[in-house]
Amino acid sequence: MIQPKCIGKRILLTLGALVTLTLGIANGFATLATELDKPQRCLQERTYKMVGYNCANLNLKEIPQTLKSSLQIFDLSFNRIRDLNRHSFARYTDVKYLYLFENMIQNIEDDTFSELNSLEALDLSNNALKTIPQEIFRLPLLRNLYVAHNALSDLDRELTELAKPIRAPIQILSLADCWLTKLPNFGIMPDLWQLNISSNPMTELTVDQFSPMCNLRSLDLNNTQIPICSCQIITTELSVRRTKILNSHPHCTPLFSAEQSICAQDVSPAPPTSDYQQCIEIRTARKLNTEAKTAWFKISLGVLACIVLFSLILYCFHKRNAKSIKEGSKNGKKTTPIHKVMVPSGDELPIVENGNRDKLINDCD
Ligand SMILES: *[C@@H]1O[C@H](CO)[C@@H](O)[C@H](O)[C@H]1NC(C)=O
Ligand SMILES: *[C@@H]1O[C@H](CO)[C@@H](O)[C@H](O)[C@H]1NC(C)=O
Repeated sequence: MIQPKCIGKRILLTLGALVTLTLGIANGFATLATELDKPQRCLQERTYKMVGYNCANLNLKEIPQTLKSSLQIFDLSFNRIRDLNRHSFARYTDVKYLYLFENMIQNIEDDTFSELNSLEALDLSNNALKTIPQEIFRLPLLRNLYVAHNALSDLDRELTELAKPIRAPIQILSLADCWLTKLPNFGIMPDLWQLNISSNPMTELTVDQFSPMCNLRSLDLNNTQIPICSCQIITTELSVRRTKILNSHPHCTPLFSAEQSICAQDVSPAPPTSDYQQCIEIRTARKLNTEAKTAWFKISLGVLACIVLFSLILYCFHKRNAKSIKEGSKNGKKTTPIHKVMVPSGDELPIVENGNRDKLINDCD
């Protein structure tokens, strides 16, 4: 027999299941609806504990202005954005990663990026840019800059006005397929370690142009057109500086090249220029600075440890002293009641004597 109480419970459970099912179906429809809505809405995503918005491939012509202003990752790739102005990112000054590749960006008004002091990576690849705005090189935290697949015909003119050395600590720079005939002069870049100049017609490339990049570790030369001898000199010199050259044309590798003898008189490595020396000096100064800081840190830590140890010893001594004083006074207090007990009252004496007497009697038996 099922008790009425249990029946009630069962009905409730069934109802609950039904509600869950209905909600589930409604949810399914909702998901379907957002799938259909997709072209209109950016999706909020959480990546690496950061607030991010995926607005890729939404046919956008403008930067959306209704998203959380605390966003840190902003993906606007594969849209139809043509112009950027100083209001485009004014709301989003916390952005760290900004993806604008595969748009139609032609014009970037002054001060579009200048307030983005948290920006670490900027991708402007596959657009219609003719230059890289100077303000980008002043961003204090910018490490990765991708400008590949833009015809940067005005870049040289822009860079003559750029204050050097640049402030941005750029580590990774891609200028692949930018119609460049020589390396743009950004001034000394002591942080740069990866450079991509693949697919450029580098007819005027010389080893001197690499002098401001004393920390270069990787250089992509895939499909880069460089005159044979220039290429050999560059390859030789950069391998001395421990730069790994990726995908260079086989005739650029001097040791295995049939053209080696033709270029031989040119291949004597060029003496390091002042830019290279200066770049090395900046790095050495920084290294010394960090070493000095580490040394100071260690010394401070040592001193602190000594102080803590000394205090601890003092404290222990103090505690031991206090304990022995306390114990001394405790013993003194204990003696008084003992004295009191030792002095028996008049009533107690006969009982003890009686006890003794009983004992004596027992012994006699
Ligand atoms: C250099 O750029 C080209 C074109 O964008 C790309 O395919 C290639 O992977 C890049 N090289 C490196 C080492 O990232
Ligand atoms: C080099 O560039 C060509 C032309 O852009 C491309 O087809 C090829 O895949 C690239 N090779 C490598 C190793 O990146």
